[in-house]
Amino acid sequence: MCGIVGYIGEGDIKGFLLEGLKELEYRGYDSAGIAILQNDNLHIAKAVGKLDNLIQKSKNIKTKGFGVGIGHTRWATHGKPTELNAHPHQGVFSYVVHNGIIENFKEIKAQLDAQFVSQTDTEVIVHLFEKYFNQTKEAKKAFEQTIKRLKGAYAILLITKADPNKIFFAKKGSPLIIGKNEKEIFFASSDAPLIGHAKEVHYLEDDEWGVASAHTMELYKNGGGKSKLSFQPLTIDKEYAQKGGYRFFMEKEIYEQSDVIGDTMMGRVEEGDVHFEEIEEGFFDGIDAIKICACGTSYHAGLSGSYLLQRLARIPTSSEIASEFRYKEPILRKDTLFIVISQSGETADTLEALKMAKAAGLKTLAICNVDNSSIVRLADRTILTRAGIEKGVASTKAFTTQVMVLWMLALLLAKQRATLTQEKIDEETKAMLQTPKALKVLPQLHERLKRLSKRYLHGHGFFFIGRDLFYPLALEGALKLKEISYLHAEGYPAGEMKHGPIALADPELFTIALMPRTLLYDKIKSNVEELSARDSTICSIGHEWFELADDFIQIRRWTHPMLEYYDMSVVLQLLAMEIAIRLGNDVDMPRNLAKSVTVE
Ligand code: G6P
Repeated sequence: MCGIVGYIGEGDIKGFLLEGLKELEYRGYDSAGIAILQNDNLHIAKAVGKLDNLIQKSKNIKTKGFGVGIGHTRWATHGKPTELNAHPHQGVFSYVVHNGIIENFKEIKAQLDAQFVSQTDTEVIVHLFEKYFNQTKEAKKAFEQTIKRLKGAYAILLITKADPNKIFFAKKGSPLIIGKNEKEIFFASSDAPLIGHAKEVHYLEDDEWGVASAHTMELYKNGGGKSKLSFQPLTIDKEYAQKGGYRFFMEKEIYEQSDVIGDTMMGRVEEGDVHFEEIEEGFFDGIDAIKICACGTSYHAGLSGSYLLQRLARIPTSSEIASEFRYKEPILRKDTLFIVISQSGETADTLEALKMAKAAGLKTLAICNVDNSSIVRLADRTILTRAGIEKGVASTKAFTTQVMVLWMLALLLAKQRATLTQEKIDEETKAMLQTPKALKVLPQLHERLKRLSKRYLHGHGFFFIGRDLFYPLALEGALKLKEISYLHAEGYPAGEMKHGPIALADPELFTIALMPRTLLYDKIKSNVEELSARDSTICSIGHEWFELADDFIQIRRWTHPMLEYYDMSVVLQLLAMEIAIRLGNDVDMPRNLAKSVTVE
């Protein structure tokens, strides 16, 4: 996740770029940069950290009259957040900003003899463009050839002294919008920077690319002919734009999951194989056990991971709540890999647990969403979840991407420890590649959950129950509901209900039963039957129609438990959100909670 902006016109170029980046800071803020071209004069500034640093660094840039400019706020995917890795990237006479991941950058890099200065995937774009320009002497042609070579996801803006009054642009996978008024042309990753500037906007489609100047705009389809521009009035307000049209950030983030999970996997998963650029071969040598430590939702991801690591890689794994771990005088053995999971990378208890593990000489690995956070800086290695900034206090996309990293890690270890056949690895990776589908919110499902939510606003409590992998998911479902609806909810292992909680069963006790068809279906069925026999109100979630359910939420038919897991995750998140909305609560900022807890 990064944000990009562009400008063509005679107005305040720098002002638009910096203000626009401020609006996009939520998409990433580990570094930022701008480049402005006025005929042959180039002004460029880059800075690590928050945008204010770039504002300071670009203080001396003064522009007057016509010019073109591009800007970028970065969320590191390849290469650390340093000034050299910050965009715009430059060649000899051209400058580029990019949001996305160029999957084949290594292959392209190997074929270029340009001087590379960054560790990013983006830099290949500008060198490739200049190579083609030197051959053809035609900027448009060179840009078209460049785009044809790129695999992966991108929104690109490129300016060049070779054809100075234009912006070359392309989109595939990552968002890009063109805006205009009578005098100026704008580009941005979302509507927000365009509000107050552009009167009309065109939302670029995947595989579209083109070139814009003050008076002309050409649009093409990659591999095809001309494409049609269809500008429409920009009428929305700022807050609406930031939420992408959704009622709450949480809702936006739930809907985003199907895309961001693709970012989590990008360059890491292909059919039959999983790898992490961040982890060198041999890093796991000598590891015979794993301990996972985290808080809140991240702990639930960790607990899910412990099932996956045990099952796929046959490695003893335990998952612990960081605040408990710290004071239990844990026995830490050097053959144990210590994994911490944190969305923010700043949670005090998780950070302290990591320090303890480091002090005991364990190898440490962080699974985190925020690069350069305290936890990332301290851990030996980090795998970033690439979920983009999560604004809703109730974590959604951070959770599903954390679980994905753990699943990938389990498979990588399974490969290294030879605990799975290649056929089984193929099966797992195939399922992974289907997760964007499983996380896609179906409108009819959302509508059903909206309606159903009115039946769950009272009662004396909820039990979310599941078995195996679906037990941590039940914990997470209950936590979501508690956090934003303030109703009492507990997650429980379904088989354990009879050892106490079943005493609570009556029609006012709501049981949300996770009933995957691919994992222990008959077992969970008997557990739910026991509750139904005691008159508990049952809401079952699964594919198979369950006759004893008072309410049944049907998910799609999947053949892999993790796909059922992901489909159900969305159901639980939406159900909690719709109940909370009906109760009139502020879903994004629930009472008494904080997004990042930096105190013990
Ligand atoms: C807070 C948040 C939770 C989060 C937990 C752990 O309680 O409200 O949503 O799961 O902290 O945060 P982390 O950033 O370490 O994942």
